[in-house]
Amino acid sequence: MTSGPQPTTRLLRLAVAQYEPRIGDMRHNLDSAVRWTKAAAEAGARLAILPELATSGYAFESVEEAERLAELPGDGGATAALAEVCADAGMHVVVGVDERDPRGGRHNSAAVLGPEGVVAVYRKLHLFHDEQSWFAPGDELPVVDLPWGRLGMIVCFDIWFPEPARALALAGAEVIACPTNWVASFKRTVYDERGWCQGDYMAVARAAENGAVVACADRIGEERGLRFLGASIIVDADGWPVAGPAAADAEALLVADVDLAGVARARQRTPRNNLLGDRRGAYPVRTVDGVSAPADRAPAGASRQP
Ligand code: ACM
Repeated sequence: MTSGPQPTTRLLRLAVAQYEPRIGDMRHNLDSAVRWTKAAAEAGARLAILPELATSGYAFESVEEAERLAELPGDGGATAALAEVCADAGMHVVVGVDERDPRGGRHNSAAVLGPEGVVAVYRKLHLFHDEQSWFAPGDELPVVDLPWGRLGMIVCFDIWFPEPARALALAGAEVIACPTNWVASFKRTVYDERGWCQGDYMAVARAAENGAVVACADRIGEERGLRFLGASIIVDADGWPVAGPAAADAEALLVADVDLAGVARARQRTPRNNLLGDRRGAYPVRTVDGVSAPADRAPAGASRQP
């Protein structure tokens, strides 16, 4: 155990790549993933984040297609090529993969790759709409110790649920990487007047409530009539955007220096308040009858005047 003053800054440069994978075009997808990871390395990033299902594309039309485009992380394909880039650059990358499960079936996964190959794989917990036809959900949230700190992952729709990001923060994650394919479907309003989509606000919420850096790598373009929203974003541990939102329909590399020493400071909101420590456990809810007449509202067991 080391003693003495803790460093007041611990900078991590990270990059989020927003581009257009193509359904079924494995060559294009591999080349794009490598090109954007190299661009992140050239920008000095030690962590690059690529979109959800970047190796395969998103809008499958059959189980057979999802299976044909699946890969086992590290066993050739885009993930092996990305590990080589990581070895050359001394960095790590998080990439969305149509993951073939050796026990059968597939997962919508985020693989962490580094100089030695596959470090960890997170399998998306909350499958969105048709994804439920192609994938099985995961059942755990890995946290990964990397040379600069602790990383957790969620994927796209997961960000609409506070629980996974909270669980990762409680497990010490300082950075939450979110490969994503935000879509316009089922929403009346897709962007606000600033060009933010709802995923951007979710990223701010997850960062602010947990005191964690949240970095979302979205894609652009359209597949089989499904439009993707771009607007990738990096949010710091105080809950403020430090890069992005990127444009809705243009490629982008967002690069930011985040101070991981700021994570502990962000969680300690005041000398007397800690975002993780002040939680109240069960949060019991009581239903109050505000409709029936006051005389009928007395709680069970309460004495009533005759
Ligand atoms: C999504 O979860 N890809 C919308």
